[in-house]
Amino acid sequence: MSPFLLTRTLPEDATGADLRADVLQGMTRTPKELPPKWFYDARGSELFEEITRLPEYYPTRAEREILIARAPEIAAATGARTLVELGSGSSEKTRHLIDALLPELAAYVPVDVSESALTGAAEALAADLPDLQVHALVADFTRGLALPGTPGPRLVAFLGGTIGNLLPSERAAFLRSVRALLAPGDALLLGTDLVKDPATLVAAYDDAAGVTAAFNKNVLSVLARELGADADPADFDHVAVWDGDREWIEMRLRARHGLTVKIPELDLAVTFEAGEEMRTEVSAKFRQEGVRAELAVAGLELARWWTDEEGRFALSLATAV
Ligand code: SAH
Ligand code: AVI
Repeated sequence: MSPFLLTRTLPEDATGADLRADVLQGMTRTPKELPPKWFYDARGSELFEEITRLPEYYPTRAEREILIARAPEIAAATGARTLVELGSGSSEKTRHLIDALLPELAAYVPVDVSESALTGAAEALAADLPDLQVHALVADFTRGLALPGTPGPRLVAFLGGTIGNLLPSERAAFLRSVRALLAPGDALLLGTDLVKDPATLVAAYDDAAGVTAAFNKNVLSVLARELGADADPADFDHVAVWDGDREWIEMRLRARHGLTVKIPELDLAVTFEAGEEMRTEVSAKFRQEGVRAELAVAGLELARWWTDEEGRFALSLATAV
């Protein structure tokens, strides 16, 4: 028997209606776009882990610094008996939080679309911490979550700055859905990358070793495998640009020349002009007042705000109003 529970609320493979609908909608509109959640098949999750170790990609190191410094305060403030983590990936940094919440912590509920990342993380944790109930959920956190009935109080963690990968309207809906999960005494721990000089930001999304480029192009492999698309990664360039008005990084794939991508599973042919760009991700960067305001609109109150020494990244602790 598996030492942890895994519940699937998504179809077994990514060929579900969701991917088809996103590709049909996103690649037939102008400008073309795809949601970033499709990066994360097993290879995409591995590439993201590689990104976290790059010299240019500071967010993971900055957030780990805050977690190490503040985990005892977070544990004392929340007294959490269940830790739910959205977009948990490898759960590597989370270990600092789990260690601080033990021994009161009874259950850890990692939630992710990437089954391979979830399984790897849950196996390691269950082996290390046999008294902790690990209940992994393969689920889309933007689609409303049915959480297992584990003991409260609950701490819902959303780390890594992944909230910045949602568009503003998606963020508002997402925060409202998180608010709906919280009972009195529960809390949200939110990681947000902060606005900083554009050169640092662009370098973090366009590293010298080309790992982020491979991560970006991985979505083409997902389309090839799941929908039979014949997009050749060599026909596209990786692009990362800072949008100073909207204060977000955009990742795009730019066609090196005019081409047509055939997608047999959708009976679709998508034409790209030479130089045409398809947006594959936004990664919004935040300021304290913006975070406070977005939380407030969702019925959440910013209770604590911590940053790393260099002020690159923030962790917010919020409670239901
Ligand atoms: N929290 C980890 C991983 C961040 S990478 C860290 O801080 O390092 C973003 C994670 O969110 C990936 O594991 C990806 O599979 C997951 N993810 C992205 N969109 C998602 C969605 N809509 N629902 C659930 N998980 C999602
Ligand atoms: C998961 N997320 C917070 C990452 C980010 O920084 O927006 C994904 C990523 N995209 C490119 N590099 C990393």
